Amino acid sequence: MVNVREASGPIDGRPVGSSILPASAYTDQKVFDTERQQIFESRWVWAGFTHWVAEPGSSRPVSVAGRPLLLVRDREGTLRVFHNICRHRGIVLSEQPSTRGRLRCPYHFWTFNLDGSLCGTPYWDRTKGSGPEPEVRDRLGLLPVPHSEWAGMVFVHLGEPTDSAEELLAPLAERWAPYDLTSLHLAEERRYDVDANWKLVVENFLDFYHLPFVHPQVGPAATLLDIEDQVLSEAVIGGYYPRGASAKASGQTAAGGGGGTALPLLGEIPDGLRDRQDIFCVFPNALVFIEPDFYQVIALEPVAPDRTVEHMAVFVAAEAADAAYDTARKNLSDVLFGVNDQDLPVLRALQQGRHSPAADRNHLVPHWDQITARFQHLTADALAQGATANAPMASNAPAKEDP
Ligand SMILES: [Fe+2]
Repeated sequence: MVNVREASGPIDGRPVGSSILPASAYTDQKVFDTERQQIFESRWVWAGFTHWVAEPGSSRPVSVAGRPLLLVRDREGTLRVFHNICRHRGIVLSEQPSTRGRLRCPYHFWTFNLDGSLCGTPYWDRTKGSGPEPEVRDRLGLLPVPHSEWAGMVFVHLGEPTDSAEELLAPLAERWAPYDLTSLHLAEERRYDVDANWKLVVENFLDFYHLPFVHPQVGPAATLLDIEDQVLSEAVIGGYYPRGASAKASGQTAAGGGGGTALPLLGEIPDGLRDRQDIFCVFPNALVFIEPDFYQVIALEPVAPDRTVEHMAVFVAAEAADAAYDTARKNLSDVLFGVNDQDLPVLRALQQGRHSPAADRNHLVPHWDQITARFQHLTADALAQGATANAPMASNAPAKEDP
């Protein structure tokens, strides 16, 4: 863990005076395509929320790097992730969330069990009730995708992972061990279409400097600027307010707390953490925020150089589902989604600014922009890696073995 708050002078060893990433990295379709390949198909990335497939037998289509995937909860409660295409003609298998169990292709009615195995192939040899030989059937199951669940989130890896999702998340899991993230209650979830590049959404989330100016309702500048940068690992970066929650309790919400309401805590939080607010990016696309009584995720789905879908969810402790906390939950949601709403015009204007011929002359400030610089370096380094380093899984289908 490295505290870089005190750093001054060059950012990550490079001179200040310009952004690490050029403005074109936020507008160029070629860069966007390269990011999909070099980052979103080559790393563990957020793909969805576990509550999207809470019920046994449920499934939900999602998209990662433009690749159609299907989240499935089998009858035993195990999460599975598959490439969301039928093994016959490659049509997208499922376009809507479902709770009906077995998956049926809309084209020729091939059906698949929730473990991905093929179980129905009508008129296989043009006769009723026919089907393939068992060894052929066994090769035509849905193709699985490496995945992992943690803290209400689903992570997937579209390439061939050389590390585990647990390794990526370990620094955060360790830091957040006192919080019970296994029995969360979803307070509210919203989807936003944001007119900005996904990297600007990350950078804005990690930009603690703007808080008193864009979100003055959540506290005075003295509180909002009392934040320490934190680097938990190369891929988990952000910051924390040491005295955020105590400011909230006194009516000065540092980053959007419950406005003085008393929600049950997320487990047995030691006294030393009662005041702490954590804000982290799990590179590339999971932005997480935790206080003793709530946990928030803003997850990003880049869809174009200038367009990003945000999936924002606010979670509270399971006991807070009780009707006695209806008002507290609503107050919390109002504050947190209100803060996010305020960022939308900022993000739009940041994106528009990237089209200025002067955009490559903006100036990162060592006192505030170290975390942004780290994020940009991480992105730049990923883009610089050879295109052959991580081939996408999509090319690994055993086509030559298929009948
Ligand atoms: Fe903001």
